[in-house]
Amino acid sequence: MSTILKVGVIGVGGIAKTHMPGWAASELAEVVAGSDVFGPALEAWGATHGVTRLSTDAADIINDPDIDIIDICTPNMYHAPLAIAALEAGKHVICEKPLAPTPADIRQMIAARDASGKTLMTAQHFRFKGSSKALKAEIESGSLGDIYHARSWMLRRGWIPARPGFIYKKNSGGGPTIDIGVHILVSVTKYSPRAAGGV
Ligand SMILES: NC(=O)c1ccc[n+]([C@@H]2O[C@H](COP(=O)([O-])OP(=O)(O)OC[C@H]3O[C@@H](n4cnc5c(N)ncnc54)[C@H](O)[C@@H]3O)[C@@H](O)[C@H]2O)c1
Repeated sequence: MSTILKVGVIGVGGIAKTHMPGWAASELAEVVAGSDVFGPALEAWGATHGVTRLSTDAADIINDPDIDIIDICTPNMYHAPLAIAALEAGKHVICEKPLAPTPADIRQMIAARDASGKTLMTAQHFRFKGSSKALKAEIESGSLGDIYHARSWMLRRGWIPARPGFIYKKNSGGGPTIDIGVHILVSVTKYSPRAAGGV
């Protein structure tokens, strides 16, 4: 494995553009390849970011021995097959949320991760917000006792209608719960600091 980890992005639509500044800021990784089923968008993305290794066939990126990490930014229905193929090809995977539309898909992704020994990470960026981390630390300190109920909500008031690409059910596998609900639905309803070895 190279010192600078090489990244291939699959699906170069809206969220991929958001990932790019993060990759560009990293001293540990660089994006060297991209794939999208829509060739013109792929060419434009490559020109914008100076990425020349482009293919409309994701397998070309997944099976490239020079690539260490696959960044999956496609609509939800394609996450599981692409992630499993990438893990089986020996790549680390970061995959947009939700990991997949069904628990069965996600279990298969986790099994592929376990078999590969590689990292599978979901891009749930809300988990890294200061408020999320502060609340988690508070819960883990035990100061709130055993959490048996939590309420959370999310309302999208801007950017409507969203681009149709990923909200069609054939691409998304679900509706608002699977789209924005995954940001706020956490396992806190079952969280027990005592069971987790806390206070
Ligand atoms: N973390 C967040 O807050 C956040 C925000 C927006 C979207 N997302 C997630 O990002 C993913 C993509 O959303 P988006 O807004 O970028 O959608 P988008 O429609 O803008 O882009 C998706 C891209 O994937 C391409 N594509 C579709 N199927 C493909 C395949 N099989 N192989 C390769 N490329 C394929 C499309 O041509 C398109 O360019 C979704 O899973 C969505 O839930 C996350």
